[in-house]
Order: sequence, then C-alpha cells, then structure tokens
Amino acid sequence: MFDCTVIILGSTGDLAKRKLLPALYTLLQQKNFSKLLLVGAAREQIDITTLLHRVKASVDQPDETVFKELENSTLYFSLDFTKEEDFFRLHDFITDQESRRGMSGNRLVYVAAHPNFFCPITEYVGMSKLLRRSSAKTQWNRIVYEKPFGFDKASAHAINTCITAWFNEDQVYRIDHYLTKELVGNIAVVRFTNIVLEPLWNHTYIDHVEITLTEEIGIEGRAQYYDAYGAVRDVVQNHMLQLLALTAMEGPHELQGAYIQDEKTKVLKKTRVVDGILGQYKGYKQEVANPSSMTPTFALFRVFVDTPRWKGIPFFLKTGKKLAHKDISIVIKFKDVICPLEEYKTCYSNYLHITVAPDSGFSLELNAKKPGYTDDVTPIQMHFCHSCIFGHAEAEAYEVLFKQILIGEQSVSVRFDEIEYAWDVIDNAHAIAMPLYEYQPGTDGPAEASAYLQKHNVEWKS
Ligand code: BG6
Repeated sequence: MFDCTVIILGSTGDLAKRKLLPALYTLLQQKNFSKLLLVGAAREQIDITTLLHRVKASVDQPDETVFKELENSTLYFSLDFTKEEDFFRLHDFITDQESRRGMSGNRLVYVAAHPNFFCPITEYVGMSKLLRRSSAKTQWNRIVYEKPFGFDKASAHAINTCITAWFNEDQVYRIDHYLTKELVGNIAVVRFTNIVLEPLWNHTYIDHVEITLTEEIGIEGRAQYYDAYGAVRDVVQNHMLQLLALTAMEGPHELQGAYIQDEKTKVLKKTRVVDGILGQYKGYKQEVANPSSMTPTFALFRVFVDTPRWKGIPFFLKTGKKLAHKDISIVIKFKDVICPLEEYKTCYSNYLHITVAPDSGFSLELNAKKPGYTDDVTPIQMHFCHSCIFGHAEAEAYEVLFKQILIGEQSVSVRFDEIEYAWDVIDNAHAIAMPLYEYQPGTDGPAEASAYLQKHNVEWKS
C-alpha cells in the first residue's frame, strides 16, 4: 500500500481523462493506496466535480463509492505552465494539504503536457521545491514525462539537459506505455527462456521481422499535435522502436530495468532506416484544416540493425491510422527449410507471431502432415491465447505504469540515451526522400505498399 501525493500537470487533457485518472480510480478501487492526495493541475478554471464527471465516461461500470473516495482525495489547482510563481503557489498549496491530511511526503509529478513545456515545467518544479533532487526510497520524489519526448534529437537532448540539472536519473520516468503491455513484457521472456527459440534468433535462421502497429481510429481530435508530429514521430520513434529493440537486443545480464535499457540502447545505436513509403488517408487534410499538409498517417519502413546477430536481415515496420484493423504484433519469419520430402512436395516457412493487441498471445506456425494416407505437408499453428489461459484480467497499461512507478521500478522508463538514439534513427529517416501516397480509410493503406513489399519478397503476415 502506498501513501502518495500525485500531481498531474495537464489534468484536463485527453490523456488524463481517458487514461490517467481512470487508472488512479482503479488503483484506489483495488486499495493500492493507504492514503492518496491527487492534485489535478491545468490552466482551465474548473471544479473537481466537473473534472471527475468527465472521467466517469472512461470507466467501465463506475462504482459510486470509489468515485466518492476519489472525489475526497482529489483537489484541482489552476496554473500556467510558463509562470514560475504558479509553481511556488502550487508547492505551498500541496505542502499545506499534505500536512492537514498527514501525508508522508512521497510525491509523484506526472507531466502530461506538450513537450515544449517539459523544460520550463522541470525547472519550475525544481526551483519551487515541489520535488527535490533525491534518490531516497522513503519520502521519495519522482517525475514522469509522457511521450512524445521532444520533436527531434536536438530538442530531446535539450530537455534531457534540463532534467539532469534538477533531478537524478532514478527519479525520472520517460514513459512509453507500450512497455507495460503484457505481451511486450513477454517478448524477452519468450526469447530468453525457451531453448527452442533462442539459438535460432539470429541472421542464420531468420529471414526477416515484421513489426505492425495499425489502428482503426484516426487522429481523435488531436489535429494540431498530429499535423506537427505525424505517424513517424507519434508512434515509430517510441512504441515501434521499443518493440524492435526488445526483439533485437542481446540477452541482458538480468531481465530487469537498467540491464534491459543497456541492451536496448545498444540496438538503437545500430539501427537505421534504409527506405520506405509514406501515406496519408483521404480526408486528413480537411480534418486538420491544412490543405497543403504532407504529414504522414501511414509509414512502412525497411530497417537494418547493424549488429553481428542481425547481419543483413531486414526489419519491416508498418503503422497507420484509419486502417482496416487494429493490430500490434511482431512476426518472425524463419528461413525456408529445404524440404526433405519428395521434390514436388512443398514445405512452408515457420513463423512466430507475437500479438500484443487486440488479442494478446503468440503462435508458432509449423509444418505438419495432412491427415490420411499421404505425406503432403500443411502449415499448422500452435497457439497461446493469453486470456484463455490467464483469464481476461489483463491490467490496463496505465494501471501497471502507476504501480511500477510507485514501487520505483525503472523498466517502464526509457532512458535518456535510448531516446536520443531513437531520435537519431528518426532524424536520419526524415532525411531520406520517401513518396507520400493517399489511401482510403478502412483499407490496408496505400496500394503502393503492396508493391513495395512484393519487391522485397514479403507477404505481410498479420
Ligand atoms: C499513442 C499515440 O502514443 O499511442 C496514439 O499518440 C496512438 O496516436 C496510441 O493511437 C496507441 O496506443 P494503444 O495503447 O491504443 O495501442
């Protein structure tokens, strides 16, 4: 059980409404806090009932008793992220509330704001002593930054410099909520604990890797942000490169925080996009009210990881909004087997398919004999369905995230060097000329994507 003050900077935004506050509601319902003081802060002038009312829509079967408890634990504070004096006022307000409520002084500041504010916010949080530089395990002070972390390497580096000036690395969480997804956490376990996989996990046996992050939803009212960032900065720089790094990394000393970060960093340092194509869905320009927008809502990249393990093996990364299906997955295509049966028989490639969403699990595609008096071969799937085995209670990503931060587990955080190398990959990709094609919403993306994959002998699996 935790006794903690959680301060959400940006509490009236979409993320707070849909993810952060519902996750805290669930943590309260599960009795994770011995005492909670939740302070929502943003520029808007609203009262706490209005704020929590907005949250109710994002909670399944809201429990009135828990909502009452949340209401009693929550306060709202109006402030301007660019005004130093507002943070001093916030500090005094919180110190006073903590002493009235007998809180122990554990504090968590969650920055759910545009990255342009990360630096001023960090400085004002430090200057006002809302948080202090300290690696203490009691009366701990931690700060969380929600992605995107900067716009490119230079801006990410500037933010990191600000953070280092005020806080120790073990107080800082640059979070990527994908790292808390059940099957993402499983990638390393599946790889490193199964002798039937680990010896084959290299360029000798693997033909290529496909990483997919496709969505049916569009930009969900985030026109200004999305038109500036686009698909590549929105999800490739972070979620997709994290999936790639976990798939490609060497075995960490232990399957834990810093060791995993070390290995992911080594991969990102050696990762490069070689070519690709971009797309934009029809109707996007009107939606963002920018008739000349060249912002991609779809990207398909061919990527190499220049380590001995992955010599010459392509990773294909595909993402897009308003596509036919939601799919977050990693597919490993193993090299073709030389069929030991008669010449005219066909054996099929083996695949490992790791599905993160919508249905998490994995399956291994093997060759088997067709039934009856024949030695004809057919591909079959050995399937692990997460919910069938472990039930439907897969925790929501932000619940896991809060729990990990509260116990000080850093593996949910992306370290500053990982972020900067990931931006290197993206900055270099932006320097490569890639065509931008239009596509119909509800399809698999631009028709040119199929031709591109065909050229590279890839039949997309997911
Ligand atoms: C966010 C992106 O980081 O991830 C969104 O900004 C995207 O554009 C979302 O929709 C996808 O997350 P999830 O958990 O729904 O797969």
